[in-house]
Amino acid sequence: MRTLCLLLVVAWGILSGQQKLSLYERVGRYDGIATIVDAYLKGVRADPQFARFSGRGTDSLVRAKQLLKDQLCAMTGGPCVYMGRDMKTAHGGLGITEGDWAASMKYMAAALEKSHVAGNEKEEFLALIDSMKPMFVEKH
Ligand code: HEM
Repeated sequence: MRTLCLLLVVAWGILSGQQKLSLYERVGRYDGIATIVDAYLKGVRADPQFARFSGRGTDSLVRAKQLLKDQLCAMTGGPCVYMGRDMKTAHGGLGITEGDWAASMKYMAAALEKSHVAGNEKEEFLALIDSMKPMFVEKH
């Protein structure tokens, strides 16, 4: 009986230690996030629909890319710290439309596929991004 109890305690310890991994872990940690962001921005920045948002110098573009990596790393449960502005402030006045948002989501989905993030992870990642929509879209 004592042995059985001991076994149960050990089994419980092992099972409770197997908590669900963070989304950050499941998309391939920082390298995964970096690959996703690079592919996403490559897509949007080459699309003429987004040309009106691109009048920035190289350093500003690099800075925004790094901030996006930090932000998504932090949001998915990674160890990064996001030190940029909040999304409403950073995008206020840009006049982002529903159509821009839908196109952006399409590029994000393509970026996840390109980075071999599929199934639940892909859906979870996209849902996380889409939940932020009210902070971006100003025009309907
Ligand atoms: C329709 C889609 C989007 C457009 C047109 C857009 C456009 C922009 C532009 C023009 C800037 C630079 C603003 C400035 O320097 O004043 C910016 C910055 C930024 N964006 Fe977006 N964005 C979009 C979607 C997103 C999404 C989905 C995320 C994150 C989930 C995001 C995260 C950021 C971050 C972290 C910055 C940097 C903030 C800072 O400078 O402090 N953006 N975006």
